[in-house]
Amino acid sequence: MTKSIQIALDGPAAAGKSTIAKIVAEQLGYIYIDTGAMYRAITLKALNEGIDLSSNEEAGKLLADTEIDLQPSENGQLVFLDNKDVTEDIRSQHVTKAVSEMAAHESVRTQMVKLQQQLAEERGVVMDGRDIGTDVLPAAKLKVFMSATVEERARRRFEENKKRSIHTPIDELQAEIAKRDKMDSEREVSPLRQAEDAIFLDTTFLTIREAAAEILRLAEERLS
Ligand code: DC
Repeated sequence: MTKSIQIALDGPAAAGKSTIAKIVAEQLGYIYIDTGAMYRAITLKALNEGIDLSSNEEAGKLLADTEIDLQPSENGQLVFLDNKDVTEDIRSQHVTKAVSEMAAHESVRTQMVKLQQQLAEERGVVMDGRDIGTDVLPAAKLKVFMSATVEERARRRFEENKKRSIHTPIDELQAEIAKRDKMDSEREVSPLRQAEDAIFLDTTFLTIREAAAEILRLAEERLS
């Protein structure tokens, strides 16, 4: 029997990947790696330092000189940027709007993929992102591509924001999600796409608990 496996969870923005990945990782005793948080962290630094977001070269140089660290805590995963806790800051609309441009650079992706592969070495891991099944962990034993309609994803993000006292109108959220999906799917370097051996999971009509249970069932199948 295999002791642990790698689980790759990909899909478009606000599909519920991170919430579900966290539950699955906790149930299996695996580590959880939110790769979107890593792209958000370098974007935050680029915005703070005023670098040209459209420059592949500048973006790559900046990342080469940056330390990004993910640490589990009682309140979920904490994100550190050059040893500073930026867990909250990386979720701002400012960062959300800029992250797809930063994540499209080859210089950024090459370094990020290497870092993510190192983080996943020799242990049970649930990693969520856009290119995990295709590029970061192509040998993962379980690959799931999760999605939901853009209307449903905007509705979920709206409800989530309400709890954090953020009041962006739902149609604005839907437009931002659709724009990010387009940029992430159409970029040249490792675009968002379903790996050939990934299982498609439509969560439009599933609760978080149901979606997590389905992934856990698939994981148990592969573990036995
Ligand atoms: O999952 P998220 O919304 O936090 O991701 C933020 C952005 O980062 C997303 O719009 C695209 C990019 N991203 C990526 O290109 N590759 C990944 N593996 C994860 C995220």
